[in-house]
Amino acid sequence: MRTFALTTLLFVVGNAASFSYNKDVLNGTTLFQIQWSNCTTNDPPNLDCGQIQVPLDWSQPDGEQITLGISRVKATGSSSSRVGSLIFNPGGPGSPATEFCEYQAAGTPVFSKAISEHFDIICPDPRGVGTSSPISCDPGLWNQKQSLFPQSEAEFAEMVKHNKAFGQSCLDLSGGVFSHVDTTSVAEDMEAIRIALNDGKLNWLGVSYGTQIGAQYAELYPKNIRAMALDGNTDHSPSEVYILTAESSTYENELDRFFEWCNQNQSCAFHGQNVAQIFDDLVAKADKTPIPAPGCLPTADTAAASTCFPNVTGEDIRFNVQGSLTYKYGSAFPGGGWLELGIVLNETLNGNATALSSAMANMGKNSTVWQGLAVGCLDWAHSTTTFAQNVYKQQLGSAIAPHTKGASQSYRYQTRCIGWPATVVNPPHVLNQTAMKLAPPILLVNSNHDPETSYVWAQNLQTQIPSAVLVTRNGDGHGSLVLGGQASAVIDGYLVNGTLPAQDFVVQS
Ligand SMILES: *[C@@H]1O[C@H](CO)[C@@H](O)[C@H](O)[C@H]1NC(C)=O
Ligand SMILES: *[C@@H]1O[C@H](CO)[C@@H](O)[C@H](O)[C@H]1NC(C)=O
Ligand SMILES: *[C@@H]1O[C@H](CO)[C@@H](O)[C@H](O)[C@H]1NC(C)=O
Ligand SMILES: *[C@@H]1O[C@H](CO)[C@@H](O)[C@H](O)[C@H]1NC(C)=O
Ligand SMILES: *[C@@H]1O[C@H](CO)[C@@H](O)[C@H](O)[C@H]1NC(C)=O
Ligand SMILES: *[C@@H]1O[C@H](CO)[C@@H](O)[C@H](O)[C@H]1NC(C)=O
Ligand SMILES: *[C@@H]1O[C@H](CO)[C@@H](O)[C@H](O)[C@H]1NC(C)=O
Ligand SMILES: *[C@@H]1O[C@H](CO)[C@@H](O)[C@H](O)[C@H]1NC(C)=O
Ligand SMILES: *[C@@H]1O[C@H](CO)[C@@H](O)[C@H](O)[C@H]1NC(C)=O
Repeated sequence: MRTFALTTLLFVVGNAASFSYNKDVLNGTTLFQIQWSNCTTNDPPNLDCGQIQVPLDWSQPDGEQITLGISRVKATGSSSSRVGSLIFNPGGPGSPATEFCEYQAAGTPVFSKAISEHFDIICPDPRGVGTSSPISCDPGLWNQKQSLFPQSEAEFAEMVKHNKAFGQSCLDLSGGVFSHVDTTSVAEDMEAIRIALNDGKLNWLGVSYGTQIGAQYAELYPKNIRAMALDGNTDHSPSEVYILTAESSTYENELDRFFEWCNQNQSCAFHGQNVAQIFDDLVAKADKTPIPAPGCLPTADTAAASTCFPNVTGEDIRFNVQGSLTYKYGSAFPGGGWLELGIVLNETLNGNATALSSAMANMGKNSTVWQGLAVGCLDWAHSTTTFAQNVYKQQLGSAIAPHTKGASQSYRYQTRCIGWPATVVNPPHVLNQTAMKLAPPILLVNSNHDPETSYVWAQNLQTQIPSAVLVTRNGDGHGSLVLGGQASAVIDGYLVNGTLPAQDFVVQS
């Protein structure tokens, strides 16, 4: 739900120089410092990398410290036009932010001309993710794929046993950070980074899960914000049923819109056909006999080789099509648009399900596929303990989402986190209203047909932020930032000039 994920790395940070770190303790106050240096020996212009040390456990500021990795693209405009530093998070949880500054510096535009002119863009990997004291787990256990839709008591017990064993491997291999990658800790880290930047109040740009980091920062430090733009909004609200309903139904709604579009649009692979029926038949067929994904085999000559499972079930398809709905018309990034999804479904129908295969841990390399799960299990309620309770959720999914049957990131947390060897330390909650009243105007942007972060979540978040202005993009897809349309222009005007649109403002692109 909260991904804004890119699958192909355009630019990879190699062996960074070793960074020194200075911590000054002045009058009992810890001052944070970032030591900036080059990322590689041949960086693109304007790109720097840095590291900062922060407490592992924010309730023990003088205890064990962990290291966070940050990349930065310096403002391209004149020094007189520079507004400040803008901290960015792309979502996930589990997406490394550092890659996005690297894309930008390497010439793939993530950020608009206005943003890159006026701000130093700061891309810190959240703790546990990417270059920030990353969570490690046993890849062999990850690669023992387990259904999240158990059909019997025994299958349910097997799933929980597997969750426990896998989570335990993460705890064993990661140590203390395993229990401290929750979003409250991430928000505290962002404050440390803001202090270290020594560049005034916070400017924040969060997409998808990055909106949750922003909202939780605002709850902690409402008075330290200059501007906060939240694009594709996550609502960290308490009820598991509400969260699941909102995400499953918005995914299903967007898939229905894809079916309709594909039927109507002459370029789509299934033009003129009953696309919903084709999808349902494909899922049923793959559930009966998994469809091969030859491009995932270690021997394949593809970018996907060794990174996904060599065969694909109907459950995989139900989970993985969600990401293919992110951009209706594609984007500058890999992943394609709806046209591509038509091609992919056609390929799958013809026996090659590579593009819809689930992520596998690459045995030879340090993998990152589980980092988002480790965050999710500390943040999201997962109260199910019995098979019967799980069946209720399956029944809910089938009722509100007949094609995808509830498969979604929320459902994943509500099942895969059962038995996880760490407690929820950042429970879902309504944002502290005393604190939120102190925040300056906060900009929310959401499309009304977002396959991941439901418009319902954006509306509910808006009710928790008295100063919020929610801009509705009348259209499809997850997030608006990289579309470069009217919504992006509103974000630019707000971040650069502080210009707020009217309440109820609707844009078409
Ligand atoms: C630390 O405290 C001393 C004495 O109260 C004061 O003179 C000094 O300015 C303080 N230093 C900082 C950095 O706040
Ligand atoms: C960073 O790279 C530039 C250009 O290659 C070089 O001049 C500079 O010395 C490097 N800085 C550090 C700290 O390595
Ligand atoms: C069909 O889809 C293509 C690709 O997304 C798009 O460029 C075109 O405008 C669509 N045509 C119609 C009639 O919607
Ligand atoms: C769908 O698959 C068939 C069989 O491989 C192929 O002939 C056709 O060109 C494909 N259609 C599209 C739009 O990719
Ligand atoms: C899944 O893929 C593996 C590896 O290619 C293969 O050995 C196995 O038979 C496949 N299973 C099914 C059910 O197709
Ligand atoms: C299967 O599809 C993937 C892309 O979806 C492609 O890279 C690969 O070459 C295909 N493999 C075969 C054997 O057709
Ligand atoms: C994986 O990460 C560990 C710890 O950062 C490092 O020591 C090891 O060399 C890495 N292994 C690979 C294959 O990159
Ligand atoms: C809510 O925010 C206020 C103002 O920042 C703070 O004083 C209070 O402790 C917070 N309440 C909780 C439960 O965190
Ligand atoms: C900021 O305001 C100035 C002056 O009105 C305007 O020219 C500029 O386009 C605005 N910048 C953005 C990013 O909207």
